Amino acid sequence: MKAAVLEALHEDLKIKELERPVPESGEVLVRLTAAAINHRDLFIQEGKYAKIALPCTLGSDGVGIVEDIGPNVGVGIIGQRVVINPSLDWGEQEEYQSRKFRVLGMPDAGTFARYICVPAQNISQAPAHLSDEEAAALPLAGLTAYRALFRKGAFKRGERVFITGIGGGVALMALQFSLALDAQVCVSSSTTAKIEKAVSLGADGGVLYSNSEWHKKLKSNFGHFDLSIDGAGGDSFARLLDIAAPGGRIVNYGGTSGPIKELSPQRLFWKQLVIKGSTMGNAEDFKNMLAFVNEHSLHPVIDSVFPLEEVNQAFKRMLEAQHFGKIVLRISE
Ligand SMILES: NC(=O)c1ccc[n+]([C@@H]2O[C@H](COP(=O)([O-])OP(=O)(O)OC[C@H]3O[C@@H](n4cnc5c(N)ncnc54)[C@H](OP(=O)(O)O)[C@@H]3O)[C@@H](O)[C@H]2O)c1
Repeated sequence: MKAAVLEALHEDLKIKELERPVPESGEVLVRLTAAAINHRDLFIQEGKYAKIALPCTLGSDGVGIVEDIGPNVGVGIIGQRVVINPSLDWGEQEEYQSRKFRVLGMPDAGTFARYICVPAQNISQAPAHLSDEEAAALPLAGLTAYRALFRKGAFKRGERVFITGIGGGVALMALQFSLALDAQVCVSSSTTAKIEKAVSLGADGGVLYSNSEWHKKLKSNFGHFDLSIDGAGGDSFARLLDIAAPGGRIVNYGGTSGPIKELSPQRLFWKQLVIKGSTMGNAEDFKNMLAFVNEHSLHPVIDSVFPLEEVNQAFKRMLEAQHFGKIVLRISE
């Protein structure tokens, strides 16, 4: 079968012919039709990820048809169109993952391939209103945004939400989820064009994070926020305390801009703020996320679709931060 394999750090992925995997006990074999790229895939390629084991087929997001099953899996599942939950071995705790937890796609063989074997418990019926490309865009970003917003962020209908780096996959899902429950949302981005796109989706407005005074502009134009959802960290993170309403919550799920600096303890305690970290999600979060997408008939924003063979062009688009929404790979014979 065809697969996009990372053989060594800082190299392009290579399209290789690999053996089709055989499902073991409790696993299903999925014939993938679409996959999606996450920043994680780039971080692995750049060597900025823990415990990298190569060569490996990358990819955490996938949709396809169940073609075969291993022992101890019911036959009823064969032929179903499914999405894959990329959280492996989450464990028993709701608030945090087990030590065995892994994200699909390094070290386990990922979704940038024609076939993949995954635990049967990690597949769910793909939302019927979504195309394969849209369904492939959903799992990792949707799961991360859902947990950050609802479980960790305790978001309530109609609250005021600030989302950083709106061009990102997780950020856009958080925008769509919160808007579905009447949130008043502002965003930050590298370009005014991306802010305008967010406004066309329903955001109230936004600021350029490159402007060092962005927090002042945001406060004077839009006031304070009940909840911030942040995937960047870095120097700007401290400003999230400035724009928080008293009793506000800040949830961080990523560190694209590096270490957090100069947090003011006075702002933190005087405003009685809550700062939480969030990573991926458990099986319940994934099921709830899919149910939410179905209930509100949400369509993930797709930036672009590339054939699997052009995976390196797709990576380049993400590396240059040209994208707005998910970059998807179409997988054919
Ligand atoms: N903890 C988890 O479970 C988890 C899950 C998914 C992702 N992540 C992490 O979250 C981050 C985003 O992931 P993703 O897949 O959504 O990536 P992505 O689609 O590539 O989005 C990255 C976005 O970061 C934004 N950005 C860059 N510099 C920024 C800054 N200084 N301030 C604010 N935003 C900035 C950009 O927004 P604009 O395009 O608007 O400029 C860019 O689109 C990555 O660090 C990733 O590793 C963590």
